[in-house]
Amino acid sequence: MNLSTFTLFLALIGGASGQYYEDYEYYPIGVYGPSSPNCAPECNCPPSYPTAMYCDDLKLKSVPMVPPGIRYLYLRNNQIDHIDEKAFENVTDLQWLILDHNLLENSKIKGRVFSKLKQLKKLHINYNNLTESVSPLPKSLEDLQLTHNKIRKLGSFEGLVNLTLVQLQHNQLKEEAISAAFRGLKSLEYLDLSFNQIAKLPSGLPVSLLTLYLDNNKISNIPDEYFKRFSGLQYLRLSHNELADSGIPGNSFNVSSLLELDLSYNKLKNIPTVNENLENYYLEVNELEKFDVKSFCKILGPLTYSKIKHLRLDGNRLTHTSLPPDMYECLRVANEITVN
Ligand SMILES: *[C@@H]1O[C@H](CO)[C@@H](O)[C@H](O)[C@H]1NC(C)=O
Ligand SMILES: *[C@@H]1O[C@H](CO)[C@@H](O)[C@H](O)[C@H]1NC(C)=O
Ligand SMILES: *[C@@H]1O[C@H](CO)[C@@H](O)[C@H](O)[C@H]1NC(C)=O
Ligand SMILES: *[C@@H]1O[C@H](CO)[C@@H](O)[C@H](O)[C@H]1NC(C)=O
Repeated sequence: MNLSTFTLFLALIGGASGQYYEDYEYYPIGVYGPSSPNCAPECNCPPSYPTAMYCDDLKLKSVPMVPPGIRYLYLRNNQIDHIDEKAFENVTDLQWLILDHNLLENSKIKGRVFSKLKQLKKLHINYNNLTESVSPLPKSLEDLQLTHNKIRKLGSFEGLVNLTLVQLQHNQLKEEAISAAFRGLKSLEYLDLSFNQIAKLPSGLPVSLLTLYLDNNKISNIPDEYFKRFSGLQYLRLSHNELADSGIPGNSFNVSSLLELDLSYNKLKNIPTVNENLENYYLEVNELEKFDVKSFCKILGPLTYSKIKHLRLDGNRLTHTSLPPDMYECLRVANEITVN
């Protein structure tokens, strides 16, 4: 397989699975049309969507005047390097605040500027110069995105009862910074900690998680029964880590809620045992030498079979001839098994 078909294949399987929360619903309606009269002069407030103010791509160095009535504020792709304590004094019912691609540092975000926004649901500060998570945050927050910063430290997220989604990928987080921060969150379903510096699985992650991404870190082992606590976990990514067989206790991934497990780009020689409910299993680019049906089906019978649909085994030491003939009695509904 050449590189481009490989990439396409990845894109396809990526698109067919998982939950996607990124880049959705930005109401790009009438951004270049006429503006409502009380809008900040440099920005645009589409009459068809008068509670939104768009101030993207304007080389702004600070937050412009925000008129009362605005609920959705877009300030993407500017050069904003500070936020004054009073920046949002006239829009305390702001619901979405999108600050991606600016130059914000923690020391230049003044006072309790975010926690005063009692209706704030979405706060995005992706691609900035943060070294810590911003705090304090309002209890109304549902979606926090701080990706592509230089975050090493997390403040407490305590009391954020409605926080369901947190994206922290591409930062400099280690496990010690993470363990305490997420304690007590009752609603967190989606947590992306990929592309950080995590060497051990953090303790204290909320049991409510449905999606957990920890790929592209330095994790070499799984504590016994670690994933059992997450009784609803469906999507788990641990690709591009340092996992070897010795770091994976027997039933680590035998979690009945799991639908997708990505262990690609590690150092596995054996296929870790998974639950029969798993549908997508990615094991490409490891050191797999043998295929044991018992990794998927402990016993074979008319009603006991694996729900695997996609299984990737390419980039290992396995070939078609190393696959056992009784494999399909277990992998009965597989429609794609990729081998070298
Ligand atoms: C808030 O509104 C007042 C009164 O219109 C105005 O003087 C002030 O500059 C506004 N503040 C901001 C930060 O826009
Ligand atoms: C912000 O980060 C960018 C990219 O890492 C860097 O070039 C720039 O100097 C930083 N700006 C400040 C004000 O620290
Ligand atoms: C959390 O969400 C519920 C349901 O939308 C809402 O009724 C409640 O007020 C929210 N809590 C906070 C602290 O905003
Ligand atoms: C997974 O664990 C269950 C019990 O929780 C067990 O019945 C099942 O056989 C295990 N699956 C495999 C493939 O070992």
